[in-house]
Amino acid sequence: MVVGLQFGDEGKGRVVDLLAGGYDVVARYQGGANAGHTVVAMGRKFVFHLLPSGMLYPGKLCVVGNGVVLDPEQFFRELEELGPERAEVLVSGCAHVVMPYHKVLDALEEEAKERRIGTTRRGIGPAYADKHGRSGIRVYDLCDERGFAEKLRPILELKNRVIERVYGGRPLSFEEVYEPYADYGRRLKPFVGDASSAILEALRGGRRVLFEGAQGVMLDVDVGTYPYVTSSSTTSAGACVGTGVPPTAVGRVIGVVKAYATRVGEGPFPTELEGDLGEHLRRVGHEYGATTGRPRRCGWLDLVALKYAVEVSGAEALAITKLDVLKGLEEIRVCVAYVDAGGTRRERFVPETGFLSQVKPVYRSFKGWDEDLSGCRKLEDLPSAAREYVEFLASQLGAEVLMVGVGASREETILCSSWR
Ligand code: GDP
Ligand code: IMO
Ligand code: MG
Repeated sequence: MVVGLQFGDEGKGRVVDLLAGGYDVVARYQGGANAGHTVVAMGRKFVFHLLPSGMLYPGKLCVVGNGVVLDPEQFFRELEELGPERAEVLVSGCAHVVMPYHKVLDALEEEAKERRIGTTRRGIGPAYADKHGRSGIRVYDLCDERGFAEKLRPILELKNRVIERVYGGRPLSFEEVYEPYADYGRRLKPFVGDASSAILEALRGGRRVLFEGAQGVMLDVDVGTYPYVTSSSTTSAGACVGTGVPPTAVGRVIGVVKAYATRVGEGPFPTELEGDLGEHLRRVGHEYGATTGRPRRCGWLDLVALKYAVEVSGAEALAITKLDVLKGLEEIRVCVAYVDAGGTRRERFVPETGFLSQVKPVYRSFKGWDEDLSGCRKLEDLPSAAREYVEFLASQLGAEVLMVGVGASREETILCSSWR
Protein backbone atom coordinates (compact mmCIF):
# COMPACT_ATOMS: atom_id res chain seq x y z
CA MET A 1 0.00 0.00 0.00
CA VAL A 2 1.27 3.44 -0.94
CA VAL A 3 0.23 6.42 1.21
CA GLY A 4 1.26 10.05 1.32
CA LEU A 5 2.68 11.04 4.71
CA GLN A 6 2.35 14.81 4.35
CA PHE A 7 -0.25 17.17 2.84
CA GLY A 8 -0.52 15.36 -0.52
CA ASP A 9 1.61 15.74 -3.64
CA GLU A 10 4.46 13.74 -2.15
CA GLY A 11 4.98 11.89 -5.43
CA LYS A 12 2.64 8.94 -4.85
CA GLY A 13 1.89 8.65 -8.57
CA ARG A 14 5.51 8.14 -9.55
CA VAL A 15 6.04 5.62 -6.74
CA VAL A 16 2.94 3.64 -7.71
CA ASP A 17 4.00 3.67 -11.36
CA LEU A 18 7.41 2.31 -10.40
CA LEU A 19 6.01 -0.41 -8.17
CA ALA A 20 3.12 -1.34 -10.47
CA GLY A 21 5.38 -3.35 -12.78
CA GLY A 22 5.63 -5.98 -10.03
CA TYR A 23 1.90 -6.12 -9.23
CA ASP A 24 -1.18 -7.54 -10.95
CA VAL A 25 -3.81 -5.15 -9.62
CA VAL A 26 -3.58 -1.45 -8.68
CA ALA A 27 -6.52 0.01 -6.74
CA ARG A 28 -7.49 3.55 -5.78
CA TYR A 29 -9.55 3.52 -2.57
CA GLN A 30 -10.55 7.09 -1.72
CA GLY A 31 -10.68 10.66 -2.94
CA GLY A 32 -11.70 11.63 -6.43
CA ALA A 33 -10.56 14.01 -9.10
CA ASN A 34 -9.17 16.32 -6.41
CA ALA A 35 -6.06 14.14 -6.69
CA GLY A 36 -3.39 14.79 -9.30
CA HIS A 37 -0.82 12.00 -9.56
CA THR A 38 2.00 12.67 -11.99
CA VAL A 39 3.95 10.00 -13.82
CA VAL A 40 6.81 10.89 -16.15
CA ALA A 41 7.58 7.90 -18.34
CA MET A 42 8.36 7.05 -21.95
CA GLY A 43 9.26 10.68 -22.58
CA ARG A 44 5.77 11.86 -21.62
CA LYS A 45 4.03 13.31 -18.61
CA PHE A 46 0.76 11.73 -17.47
CA VAL A 47 -1.43 13.19 -14.73
CA PHE A 48 -3.96 10.79 -13.19
CA HIS A 49 -6.80 12.34 -11.26
CA LEU A 50 -9.19 9.44 -10.97
CA LEU A 51 -7.59 6.44 -12.62
CA PRO A 52 -4.91 4.56 -10.68
CA SER A 53 -1.29 5.32 -11.54
CA GLY A 54 -0.80 1.75 -12.79
CA MET A 55 -2.64 2.60 -16.00
CA LEU A 56 0.51 2.62 -18.13
CA TYR A 57 0.85 -1.18 -17.91
CA PRO A 58 -1.23 -3.13 -20.44
CA GLY A 59 -2.25 -6.48 -19.00
CA LYS A 60 -2.67 -5.20 -15.44
CA LEU A 61 -5.99 -4.47 -13.79
CA CYS A 62 -6.67 -1.00 -12.37
CA VAL A 63 -9.54 -0.73 -9.90
CA VAL A 64 -11.52 2.34 -8.88
CA GLY A 65 -12.76 1.22 -5.47
CA ASN A 66 -16.06 1.86 -3.71
CA GLY A 67 -14.44 4.50 -1.50
CA VAL A 68 -13.64 6.76 -4.46
CA VAL A 69 -16.08 9.46 -5.56
CA LEU A 70 -16.21 9.17 -9.32
CA ASP A 71 -16.57 12.10 -11.68
CA PRO A 72 -17.63 10.39 -14.94
CA GLU A 73 -16.63 13.35 -17.10
CA GLN A 74 -13.08 13.17 -15.75
CA PHE A 75 -13.05 9.38 -15.97
CA PHE A 76 -13.72 9.37 -19.71
CA ARG A 77 -11.40 12.30 -20.35
CA GLU A 78 -8.53 10.39 -18.75
CA LEU A 79 -9.29 7.18 -20.62
CA GLU A 80 -9.36 9.08 -23.89
CA GLU A 81 -6.05 10.82 -23.19
CA LEU A 82 -4.40 7.48 -22.48
CA GLY A 83 -5.42 5.77 -25.69
CA PRO A 84 -5.68 1.99 -26.17
CA GLU A 85 -2.27 1.00 -24.73
CA ARG A 86 -3.33 0.78 -21.13
CA ALA A 87 -4.36 -1.42 -18.22
CA GLU A 88 -7.88 -2.86 -17.91
CA VAL A 89 -10.24 -0.84 -15.72
CA LEU A 90 -12.80 -2.04 -13.20
CA VAL A 91 -15.03 0.50 -11.45
CA SER A 92 -16.86 -0.47 -8.28
CA GLY A 93 -20.62 -0.16 -8.71
CA CYS A 94 -20.71 0.97 -5.08
CA ALA A 95 -18.56 4.04 -5.75
CA HIS A 96 -20.50 7.29 -5.40
CA VAL A 97 -20.86 9.65 -8.33
CA VAL A 98 -19.78 13.28 -8.19
CA MET A 99 -22.82 15.05 -9.68
CA PRO A 100 -22.86 18.54 -11.23
CA TYR A 101 -24.64 19.95 -8.16
CA HIS A 102 -21.79 18.73 -5.96
CA LYS A 103 -19.35 20.89 -7.89
CA VAL A 104 -21.73 23.86 -7.81
CA LEU A 105 -22.20 23.45 -4.05
CA ASP A 106 -18.48 23.00 -3.41
CA ALA A 107 -17.86 26.41 -4.98
CA LEU A 108 -20.86 28.10 -3.32
CA GLU A 109 -19.98 26.74 0.14
CA GLU A 110 -16.41 27.93 -0.24
CA GLU A 111 -17.50 31.41 -1.34
CA ALA A 112 -19.86 31.67 1.62
CA LYS A 113 -17.28 30.63 4.22
CA GLU A 114 -15.51 33.16 6.32
CA ARG A 115 -12.57 30.79 6.59
CA ARG A 116 -12.16 28.95 3.33
CA ILE A 117 -10.62 25.51 3.13
CA GLY A 118 -9.23 26.16 -0.31
CA THR A 119 -10.82 23.05 -1.83
CA THR A 120 -10.10 21.94 -5.37
CA ARG A 121 -13.79 22.64 -6.16
CA ARG A 122 -14.15 19.17 -7.64
CA GLY A 123 -17.30 18.50 -5.61
CA ILE A 124 -15.50 16.18 -3.20
CA GLY A 125 -16.90 17.40 0.15
CA PRO A 126 -20.52 17.61 -1.02
CA ALA A 127 -20.31 14.16 -2.69
CA TYR A 128 -18.98 12.50 0.48
CA ALA A 129 -21.54 14.41 2.58
CA ASP A 130 -24.33 12.91 0.44
CA LYS A 131 -22.77 9.46 0.63
CA HIS A 132 -22.76 9.53 4.41
CA GLY A 133 -26.12 11.30 4.53
CA ARG A 134 -27.47 8.44 2.38
CA SER A 135 -28.68 10.61 -0.44
CA GLY A 136 -25.88 9.87 -2.87
CA ILE A 137 -26.06 8.37 -6.33
CA ARG A 138 -23.86 5.36 -6.84
CA VAL A 139 -22.35 4.05 -10.06
CA TYR A 140 -24.90 1.21 -9.94
CA ASP A 141 -27.71 3.81 -9.84
CA LEU A 142 -26.26 5.71 -12.77
CA CYS A 143 -26.19 2.54 -14.86
CA ASP A 144 -29.86 1.80 -14.19
CA GLU A 145 -31.46 4.29 -16.56
CA ARG A 146 -35.06 4.25 -15.27
CA GLY A 147 -34.07 3.98 -11.64
CA PHE A 148 -31.61 6.83 -12.09
CA ALA A 149 -34.33 9.26 -13.24
CA GLU A 150 -36.48 8.33 -10.24
CA LYS A 151 -33.60 8.75 -7.80
CA LEU A 152 -32.32 11.95 -9.33
CA ARG A 153 -35.59 13.90 -9.45
CA PRO A 154 -36.24 14.40 -5.69
CA ILE A 155 -32.54 14.80 -4.89
CA LEU A 156 -32.09 17.48 -7.53
CA GLU A 157 -35.19 19.30 -6.31
CA LEU A 158 -33.73 19.51 -2.82
CA LYS A 159 -30.28 20.51 -4.06
CA ASN A 160 -31.81 23.25 -6.18
CA ARG A 161 -33.62 24.63 -3.16
CA VAL A 162 -30.32 24.89 -1.33
CA ILE A 163 -28.51 26.34 -4.35
CA GLU A 164 -31.21 28.95 -4.91
CA ARG A 165 -32.50 29.83 -1.45
CA VAL A 166 -29.40 29.49 0.67
CA TYR A 167 -26.75 30.68 -1.76
CA GLY A 168 -28.71 32.61 -4.42
CA GLY A 169 -27.18 30.40 -7.11
CA ARG A 170 -28.61 29.20 -10.41
CA PRO A 171 -30.65 25.98 -10.15
CA LEU A 172 -29.88 23.07 -12.50
CA SER A 173 -32.62 21.74 -14.76
CA PHE A 174 -33.47 18.04 -14.67
CA GLU A 175 -32.59 17.64 -18.34
CA GLU A 176 -29.19 19.26 -18.11
CA VAL A 177 -28.22 16.82 -15.38
CA TYR A 178 -30.11 13.70 -16.41
CA GLU A 179 -29.24 13.51 -20.07
CA PRO A 180 -25.45 13.65 -19.94
CA TYR A 181 -25.32 11.53 -16.77
CA ALA A 182 -27.65 8.84 -18.13
CA ASP A 183 -25.32 8.75 -21.11
CA TYR A 184 -22.29 8.40 -18.81
CA GLY A 185 -24.16 5.53 -17.13
CA ARG A 186 -24.54 3.74 -20.49
CA ARG A 187 -20.87 4.27 -21.29
CA LEU A 188 -19.72 3.22 -17.82
CA LYS A 189 -21.53 -0.15 -17.85
CA PRO A 190 -18.73 -2.17 -19.47
CA PHE A 191 -16.31 -1.01 -16.75
CA VAL A 192 -18.58 -1.63 -13.75
CA GLY A 193 -18.51 -4.62 -11.46
CA ASP A 194 -17.95 -5.99 -8.00
CA ALA A 195 -14.50 -4.59 -7.31
CA SER A 196 -14.26 -5.99 -3.80
CA SER A 197 -14.78 -9.57 -5.03
CA ALA A 198 -12.30 -9.03 -7.84
CA ILE A 199 -9.60 -7.90 -5.41
CA LEU A 200 -10.33 -10.68 -2.92
CA GLU A 201 -10.24 -13.26 -5.71
CA ALA A 202 -6.92 -11.90 -6.96
CA LEU A 203 -5.49 -12.14 -3.45
CA ARG A 204 -6.79 -15.70 -3.04
CA GLY A 205 -5.17 -16.63 -6.33
CA GLY A 206 -1.80 -15.38 -5.02
CA ARG A 207 -1.75 -12.31 -7.21
CA ARG A 208 -0.27 -9.06 -5.97
CA VAL A 209 -2.43 -6.04 -5.25
CA LEU A 210 -1.13 -2.50 -4.80
CA PHE A 211 -3.36 0.04 -3.05
CA GLU A 212 -2.85 3.65 -4.08
CA GLY A 213 -3.74 6.35 -1.59
CA ALA A 214 -4.65 9.87 -2.64
CA GLN A 215 -3.94 13.07 -0.66
CA GLY A 216 -1.92 12.46 2.51
CA VAL A 217 -2.21 11.64 6.22
CA MET A 218 -2.39 15.33 7.20
CA LEU A 219 -5.47 15.73 4.96
CA ASP A 220 -7.31 12.76 6.52
CA VAL A 221 -10.81 13.69 7.67
CA ASP A 222 -10.25 12.10 11.11
CA VAL A 223 -6.56 12.22 11.95
CA GLY A 224 -5.56 15.20 9.78
CA THR A 225 -5.62 18.95 10.39
CA TYR A 226 -9.43 19.21 10.54
CA PRO A 227 -11.28 21.18 9.19
CA TYR A 228 -8.48 21.90 6.68
CA VAL A 229 -8.64 18.39 5.28
CA THR A 230 -10.29 16.49 2.49
CA SER A 231 -13.47 14.47 3.10
CA SER A 232 -12.08 10.94 3.01
CA SER A 233 -9.87 8.54 4.98
CA THR A 234 -6.50 9.02 3.40
CA THR A 235 -4.45 6.76 5.69
CA SER A 236 -3.79 3.06 5.12
CA ALA A 237 -6.95 2.23 7.09
CA GLY A 238 -9.01 3.84 4.32
CA ALA A 239 -7.89 1.15 1.88
CA CYS A 240 -9.97 -1.51 3.61
CA VAL A 241 -13.26 0.36 3.71
CA GLY A 242 -12.52 1.91 0.32
CA THR A 243 -12.09 -1.37 -1.52
CA GLY A 244 -13.99 -3.81 0.67
CA VAL A 245 -11.08 -5.93 1.85
CA PRO A 246 -10.35 -6.91 5.47
CA PRO A 247 -7.39 -5.40 7.35
CA THR A 248 -5.80 -8.87 7.38
CA ALA A 249 -5.41 -8.64 3.60
CA VAL A 250 -3.00 -5.74 3.85
CA GLY A 251 0.72 -6.36 3.79
CA ARG A 252 3.34 -3.67 3.77
CA VAL A 253 2.61 0.05 3.96
CA ILE A 254 4.94 2.33 2.01
CA GLY A 255 4.91 5.96 3.11
CA VAL A 256 5.83 8.58 0.52
CA VAL A 257 7.73 11.60 1.82
CA LYS A 258 8.87 14.58 -0.17
CA ALA A 259 12.36 15.73 0.91
CA TYR A 260 10.75 19.02 2.00
CA ALA A 261 7.14 19.99 2.67
CA THR A 262 4.35 21.50 0.59
CA ARG A 263 0.70 22.26 1.13
CA VAL A 264 -2.00 23.53 -1.27
CA GLY A 265 -5.02 25.25 0.17
CA GLU A 266 -5.50 26.70 3.63
CA GLY A 267 -4.64 25.29 7.04
CA PRO A 268 -1.80 25.21 9.55
CA PHE A 269 1.71 24.55 8.26
CA PRO A 270 4.25 25.15 11.07
CA THR A 271 7.34 24.80 8.88
CA GLU A 272 6.12 27.03 6.04
CA LEU A 273 8.74 29.29 4.43
CA GLU A 274 7.23 32.51 3.20
CA GLY A 275 10.22 34.39 1.80
CA ASP A 276 12.83 33.74 -0.88
CA LEU A 277 13.55 30.22 0.29
CA GLY A 278 9.93 29.19 -0.12
CA GLU A 279 9.91 30.76 -3.57
CA HIS A 280 13.15 28.95 -4.41
CA LEU A 281 11.67 25.53 -3.50
CA ARG A 282 8.51 26.34 -5.47
CA ARG A 283 10.49 27.27 -8.54
CA VAL A 284 13.04 24.46 -8.48
CA GLY A 285 10.49 21.84 -7.42
CA HIS A 286 7.81 23.11 -9.87
CA GLU A 287 5.44 23.26 -6.95
CA TYR A 288 2.20 24.12 -8.65
CA GLY A 289 -0.92 21.99 -8.14
CA ALA A 290 -1.32 19.13 -10.62
CA THR A 291 -5.11 19.57 -10.41
CA THR A 292 -5.73 23.29 -9.97
CA GLY A 293 -2.41 24.86 -10.97
CA ARG A 294 -2.33 26.80 -7.69
CA PRO A 295 1.13 27.61 -6.28
CA ARG A 296 1.92 25.19 -3.45
CA ARG A 297 3.05 26.59 -0.12
CA CYS A 298 6.57 25.30 0.58
CA GLY A 299 8.56 24.68 3.75
CA TRP A 300 11.02 22.47 5.60
CA LEU A 301 10.37 18.88 6.51
CA ASP A 302 8.43 18.46 9.74
CA LEU A 303 9.54 15.38 11.67
CA VAL A 304 7.00 15.91 14.45
CA ALA A 305 4.20 15.59 11.91
CA LEU A 306 5.97 12.82 9.98
CA LYS A 307 6.49 10.62 13.04
CA TYR A 308 2.77 10.89 13.71
CA ALA A 309 1.96 10.12 10.06
CA VAL A 310 4.20 7.04 10.14
CA GLU A 311 2.50 5.89 13.34
CA VAL A 312 -1.09 6.29 12.19
CA SER A 313 -0.45 4.81 8.76
CA GLY A 314 1.76 1.95 9.90
CA ALA A 315 4.38 2.77 7.29
CA GLU A 316 7.40 0.51 7.57
CA ALA A 317 9.05 1.56 4.35
CA LEU A 318 9.74 4.99 2.92
CA ALA A 319 9.84 6.35 -0.59
CA ILE A 320 11.66 9.68 -0.41
CA THR A 321 11.04 11.93 -3.40
CA LYS A 322 12.51 15.13 -4.83
CA LEU A 323 15.82 14.96 -3.02
CA ASP A 324 17.35 16.54 -6.15
CA VAL A 325 15.35 19.73 -5.53
CA LEU A 326 17.40 20.54 -2.42
CA LYS A 327 20.60 20.91 -4.45
CA GLY A 328 22.42 24.22 -4.09
CA LEU A 329 21.11 25.15 -0.63
CA GLU A 330 23.77 26.09 1.86
CA GLU A 331 21.75 24.82 4.77
CA ILE A 332 18.82 22.40 4.94
CA ARG A 333 16.60 22.41 7.99
CA VAL A 334 14.40 19.76 9.55
CA CYS A 335 11.87 20.48 12.28
CA VAL A 336 12.55 18.13 15.19
CA ALA A 337 10.20 19.61 17.79
CA TYR A 338 7.73 22.45 18.34
CA VAL A 339 7.69 25.13 21.01
CA ASP A 340 4.15 26.03 22.03
CA ALA A 341 2.79 29.46 22.96
CA GLY A 342 3.74 28.90 26.61
CA GLY A 343 7.37 28.18 25.65
CA THR A 344 7.15 24.43 26.28
CA ARG A 345 8.98 22.05 23.95
CA ARG A 346 6.52 19.64 22.31
CA GLU A 347 7.60 16.53 20.49
CA ARG A 348 4.22 14.96 19.86
CA PHE A 349 1.96 16.04 17.06
CA VAL A 350 -1.59 17.01 17.99
CA PRO A 351 -4.03 17.12 15.05
CA GLU A 352 -5.67 20.30 16.26
CA THR A 353 -5.63 23.52 14.28
CA GLY A 354 -5.45 25.78 17.36
CA PHE A 355 -2.34 23.99 18.58
CA LEU A 356 -0.66 23.79 15.18
CA SER A 357 -1.23 27.45 14.33
CA GLN A 358 0.59 28.70 17.41
CA VAL A 359 3.60 26.38 17.61
CA LYS A 360 7.06 27.44 16.41
CA PRO A 361 9.36 24.84 14.91
CA VAL A 362 12.69 23.87 16.47
CA TYR A 363 15.11 23.08 13.68
CA ARG A 364 18.11 20.88 13.26
CA SER A 365 20.44 22.08 10.58
CA PHE A 366 22.10 20.01 7.85
CA LYS A 367 24.79 20.86 5.36
CA GLY A 368 23.62 21.24 1.77
CA TRP A 369 25.31 20.02 -1.42
CA ASP A 370 25.97 21.45 -4.86
CA GLU A 371 26.11 18.26 -6.88
CA ASP A 372 23.38 17.36 -9.35
CA LEU A 373 21.76 14.15 -8.08
CA SER A 374 19.83 13.15 -11.19
CA GLY A 375 22.45 10.63 -12.29
CA CYS A 376 22.63 8.82 -8.91
CA ARG A 377 21.29 5.26 -9.00
CA LYS A 378 22.61 3.90 -5.70
CA LEU A 379 22.67 5.45 -2.22
CA GLU A 380 26.46 5.31 -2.45
CA ASP A 381 26.33 7.63 -5.48
CA LEU A 382 24.88 10.44 -3.36
CA PRO A 383 27.17 13.16 -1.99
CA SER A 384 27.79 12.53 1.70
CA ALA A 385 25.61 15.47 2.83
CA ALA A 386 22.61 14.13 0.88
CA ARG A 387 23.19 10.64 2.22
CA GLU A 388 23.38 11.91 5.75
CA TYR A 389 20.04 13.67 5.28
CA VAL A 390 18.35 10.49 3.99
CA GLU A 391 19.84 8.35 6.75
CA PHE A 392 18.75 10.83 9.41
CA LEU A 393 15.14 10.74 8.15
CA ALA A 394 15.04 6.96 8.02
CA SER A 395 16.47 6.59 11.51
CA GLN A 396 14.14 9.21 12.99
CA LEU A 397 11.11 7.62 11.35
CA GLY A 398 12.16 4.07 12.17
CA ALA A 399 11.52 2.89 8.63
CA GLU A 400 13.67 1.46 5.88
CA VAL A 401 14.24 3.44 2.70
CA LEU A 402 12.88 1.72 -0.37
CA MET A 403 13.68 4.31 -2.97
CA VAL A 404 14.86 7.87 -3.37
CA GLY A 405 13.67 10.10 -6.19
CA VAL A 406 16.39 12.20 -7.84
CA GLY A 407 14.27 13.46 -10.73
CA ALA A 408 10.70 13.17 -12.00
CA SER A 409 11.17 10.41 -14.58
CA ARG A 410 11.03 6.66 -14.00
CA GLU A 411 14.76 6.35 -14.54
CA GLU A 412 15.76 9.06 -12.10
CA THR A 413 15.40 6.77 -9.13
CA ILE A 414 17.62 5.18 -6.54
CA LEU A 415 16.24 1.73 -5.77
CA CYS A 416 17.51 0.45 -2.43
CA SER A 417 18.17 -3.12 -1.46
CA SER A 418 14.77 -3.34 0.25
CA TRP A 419 13.02 -2.63 -3.07
CA ARG A 420 10.86 -5.40 -4.49
P1 GDP B 1 1.20 12.94 -5.97
O1 GDP B 1 -0.09 13.66 -5.94
O2 GDP B 1 1.62 12.47 -4.62
O3 GDP B 1 1.24 11.82 -6.98
O4 GDP B 1 2.30 14.00 -6.44
P2 GDP B 1 2.16 15.08 -7.62
O5 GDP B 1 2.21 14.38 -8.92
O6 GDP B 1 0.98 15.95 -7.38
O7 GDP B 1 3.41 15.98 -7.35
C1 GDP B 1 4.70 15.47 -7.40
C2 GDP B 1 5.49 16.25 -8.48
O8 GDP B 1 6.86 16.02 -8.31
C3 GDP B 1 5.17 15.80 -9.89
O9 GDP B 1 5.32 16.90 -10.74
C4 GDP B 1 6.24 14.76 -10.17
O10 GDP B 1 6.52 14.61 -11.55
C5 GDP B 1 7.41 15.36 -9.44
N1 GDP B 1 8.35 14.37 -8.88
C6 GDP B 1 8.10 13.19 -8.28
N2 GDP B 1 9.24 12.65 -7.81
C7 GDP B 1 10.23 13.52 -8.10
C8 GDP B 1 11.64 13.54 -7.84
O11 GDP B 1 12.21 12.65 -7.22
N3 GDP B 1 12.34 14.63 -8.30
C9 GDP B 1 11.74 15.66 -8.98
N4 GDP B 1 12.49 16.67 -9.36
N5 GDP B 1 10.43 15.66 -9.23
C10 GDP B 1 9.68 14.61 -8.79
P1 IMO C 1 -2.98 14.30 -4.30
O1 IMO C 1 -3.63 12.93 -4.34
C1 IMO C 1 -2.73 18.14 -2.30
C2 IMO C 1 -6.43 19.72 -0.55
C3 IMO C 1 -7.04 20.95 -1.16
C4 IMO C 1 -7.69 21.55 0.07
C5 IMO C 1 -8.19 20.33 0.83
C6 IMO C 1 -9.65 20.00 0.57
O2 IMO C 1 -2.58 14.80 -5.62
O3 IMO C 1 -1.91 14.32 -3.28
P2 IMO C 1 -10.97 18.96 -1.49
O4 IMO C 1 -11.08 19.41 -2.91
O5 IMO C 1 -10.40 17.60 -1.33
O6 IMO C 1 -12.24 19.13 -0.73
O7 IMO C 1 -9.91 20.00 -0.82
O8 IMO C 1 -7.38 19.26 0.40
N1 IMO C 1 -6.20 18.60 -1.50
C7 IMO C 1 -4.98 18.23 -1.94
N2 IMO C 1 -3.77 18.77 -1.72
N3 IMO C 1 -2.85 17.01 -3.03
C8 IMO C 1 -4.05 16.44 -3.23
O9 IMO C 1 -4.19 15.25 -3.85
C9 IMO C 1 -5.20 17.07 -2.71
N4 IMO C 1 -6.51 16.81 -2.75
C10 IMO C 1 -7.11 17.74 -1.99
O10 IMO C 1 -6.05 21.79 -1.70
O11 IMO C 1 -6.72 22.17 0.87
MG1 MG D 1 -0.89 15.53 -6.48
